[in-house]
Amino acid sequence: MAQIYPSLLAAKQEHLETLVKQLEPYCPGFHIDIIDNVFAPNTGISIEKTNAIAQKTYRQLWVHLMVEDPESYLEKLHLKPDSILTFHIESKKDTKKMINKIIEKKLIPGIAINPKTGIDEVFPFLALIDQVLIMSVNPGFSGQPFLEDTLAKVGPLLGYRDTKNLNFKIAMDGGLNEKNLKMVTQKGIDVLGMGSAIFDAKVGPVKAYQLLSEIVE
Ligand code: DX5
Ligand code: ZN
Repeated sequence: MAQIYPSLLAAKQEHLETLVKQLEPYCPGFHIDIIDNVFAPNTGISIEKTNAIAQKTYRQLWVHLMVEDPESYLEKLHLKPDSILTFHIESKKDTKKMINKIIEKKLIPGIAINPKTGIDEVFPFLALIDQVLIMSVNPGFSGQPFLEDTLAKVGPLLGYRDTKNLNFKIAMDGGLNEKNLKMVTQKGIDVLGMGSAIFDAKVGPVKAYQLLSEIVE
């Protein structure tokens, strides 16, 4: 069964802690977007806020770094062991070194890939990481429309995972909603980051989360 992580960038920031408490009985963890306003044109959730949420919830955090210099952010983050740390292949840093630093900190390494980047770029690192994140919108904002052609990356990843006998999970983030969720999970996505479909739902975030979970069951 695919797992849904609420993406907190889409939440009303002044109610973040209340929303985390409301959702934590239901979800496996929370997706947190950190943005440097260089890699993508926005500011996301701050390092301080992220560290505070890590203290307040018993659930896993899945931190998504949309930054040019992921290493410097990693140094300032205080996350519990087994939190997921996803950085972008496009950040043009030493990817292997970054993976090793994440593992040294007892975190789970993931690599994200932008819609326009070819999937082959992540192949050299798949044996070293636990998660590949296919971005289904351009990084920066919640509430953007789903880019359906990014699903073409799933097949090559499934093939590679199978042939090489690897265990990485395939994640997707951006523009996911009750209409495309079934189709996306049927393609083989294991993990989903979902923002506005949860936090902008008329029925409220908890009910929305429960309804979305029923779709992926
Ligand atoms: C986009 C972020 C996503 C986003 C998801 O840059 O990485 O996590 O907040 O929000 P929705 O589901 O509204 O696209
Ligand atoms: Zn994200």
